[in-house]
Amino acid sequence: MRIPPTGEAGLVDATATDAGSVDGASVDATTADRVRTYRWLITGAKGMLGCDLVALLTGCGAAVTITDRDEVDITDQAGTAEAVAGHDLVVNTAAWTDVDAAETQEEQATIINGLGPQNLAVACSATGARLLHVSTDYVFSGRANHPYSEDSPTNPVNAYGRGKLVGEQAIERLAPRLGYIVRTAWLYGAGGRNFVSTMLRLAQRQEVIEVVDDQSGQPTWTRALASHLVRLGVAAVDRRSPAPPGIYHGTASGQTTWYGLARAIFAEAGLDPERIRPTTSARFPRPAPRPAYSVLAHGNWARAGLPPLDQWRDQLAMALPTLIS
Ligand SMILES: NC(=O)c1ccc[n+]([C@@H]2O[C@H](COP(=O)([O-])OP(=O)(O)OC[C@H]3O[C@@H](n4cnc5c(N)ncnc54)[C@H](OP(=O)(O)O)[C@@H]3O)[C@@H](O)[C@H]2O)c1
Repeated sequence: MRIPPTGEAGLVDATATDAGSVDGASVDATTADRVRTYRWLITGAKGMLGCDLVALLTGCGAAVTITDRDEVDITDQAGTAEAVAGHDLVVNTAAWTDVDAAETQEEQATIINGLGPQNLAVACSATGARLLHVSTDYVFSGRANHPYSEDSPTNPVNAYGRGKLVGEQAIERLAPRLGYIVRTAWLYGAGGRNFVSTMLRLAQRQEVIEVVDDQSGQPTWTRALASHLVRLGVAAVDRRSPAPPGIYHGTASGQTTWYGLARAIFAEAGLDPERIRPTTSARFPRPAPRPAYSVLAHGNWARAGLPPLDQWRDQLAMALPTLIS
């Protein structure tokens, strides 16, 4: 069977797992102390990234308001403003993430991914709360041949990317001194369906799996990203070590293809990587085109006095035991 990337994380079909088991060990003790100083609001908290973020913050003992669509629908301006009040930091992990469905439902996707961040930006501007908003590599065309920097020109090739770009632009326009846009990509984690869990499931069913080898990116563990979001949040609000607002690239270091990732998953799980065979995207037309080259550079972390995320292969080695158990 051939496996094309379908969702943002290249998922095909997998069973959702329970919330992540992230604990406070993912940030150092000093950061954990500072985390407890602030009041955090998480939107989209039941999603794959949201689960790990919530687990990390609660593990630190932070005062965190945990919300998903039922509690705070970010497309509801008044409800969003009410929810933001009383918080120092808002982390928006809520989004429409069905990339293919966005092609035929672009307006609905853009309401969530564009208007939602706009409502949050307005609300944060009114209270002074810092807004950390998670965006995507899909704001770029993928036609580059060297890593995109934070200020590289955007040019999305699909409806989902266009909607997420609307959200970025709203934050830059409405909360220029409070907004932190963190672009991520190729996420996997314990709290949602993703490419890694799909590969592990298919390994039990099929001897040979074909996976596309002509899309490059940076597989990123949600737990690693959650740790960096927390560090950035603390730096954003702490007067002693201010991180400038703007765009950050929250992807793993290094790069690979879906094929390379699949082989690494097999190797890490003690399976034979030769069971993974390369194929091309052309053999798998999807409703939404994918950028061929989704590798992001990480220069702005240094400006914030923070390191970039670890290498994707090291993240995978750390993550896999937590994803198999
Ligand atoms: N997954 C990836 O590979 C990837 C790659 C690049 C960027 N990103 C970005 O990373 C962030 C987190 O992604 P994820 O994979 O963790 O997403 P996810 O698992 O799909 O979770 C998103 C959460 O947002 C909720 N949500 C949707 N619409 C909402 C609304 N109007 N108000 C409040 N909550 C709403 C969803 O609830 P429902 O289940 O009810 O819809 C869901 O719980 C998103 O901004 C996404 O665009 C993800």
